[in-house]
Amino acid sequence: MTAAPSPRHDRVAELSADQLRQRLGEAIEIYVNAMGYPPSTAQQRAPMWSAHMLRPGWRCVGAFNERDELVGIGYGYLGNSGQWWHEQVRRGLLAKHDDEAVETWLHDYFELTELHVRPDSQGGGLGEEVLRRLLDGAPGGKVLLSTPEGPTRAWRLYRRVGFQDVLRDYHFTGDPRPFAVLGRPLPLDPR
Ligand SMILES: CC(C)(COP(=O)(O)OP(=O)(O)OC[C@H]1O[C@@H](n2cnc3c(N)ncnc32)[C@H](O)[C@@H]1OP(=O)(O)O)[C@@H](O)C(=O)NCCC(=O)NCCS
Repeated sequence: MTAAPSPRHDRVAELSADQLRQRLGEAIEIYVNAMGYPPSTAQQRAPMWSAHMLRPGWRCVGAFNERDELVGIGYGYLGNSGQWWHEQVRRGLLAKHDDEAVETWLHDYFELTELHVRPDSQGGGLGEEVLRRLLDGAPGGKVLLSTPEGPTRAWRLYRRVGFQDVLRDYHFTGDPRPFAVLGRPLPLDPR
């Protein structure tokens, strides 16, 4: 068994859109492996991730190991009406809650779109490092994300940094899995 990696030995840094474009294949491979998706998913995701880079408030953080391999990736942008995810969450909030929930959550928020750590680097705190760096200085008064219903390591992380339930057991169009939408005000509390 390999020892859990220590974040002290990894470099966590903000990536520009150009920097991510140069390492897009590597980044999407982390996503596919971390989520356990089939390799063909990568081809569908590359144009989507590239389009996301152009959205207002887009911000990305990567983690690199001592061999300068990308081992963690996180990005997000300002959520807005017309975006697929925003409209899906709006539909869910109206169905399960009310207009007030839409008012409370779906304005002035940063959508945490992706957060993944390469499987061989998980379990050592690197995900939290990437998350904190990404949200430190992210635009918006709140952060929202969706994650498959747990329990998972992602759930432990999100609860640990204070995310609360916005929607539970929600079905996004085209995905049979139940998801939770979680959110909290920004900035995060210090550790
Ligand atoms: C979710 C994910 C990004 C979290 O990243 P991670 O680096 O594995 O996890 P964390 O930063 O939360 O740290 C994990 C553990 O290390 C521990 N840890 C924290 N700091 C540490 C340190 N300095 N040294 C050693 N361990 C540490 C944490 O307590 C945590 O313990 P837990 O697993 O019992 O909760 C990652 O596991 C992943 O990619 N999962 C699959 C994809 C996924 O679900 N992504 C989210 C989709 S919404």
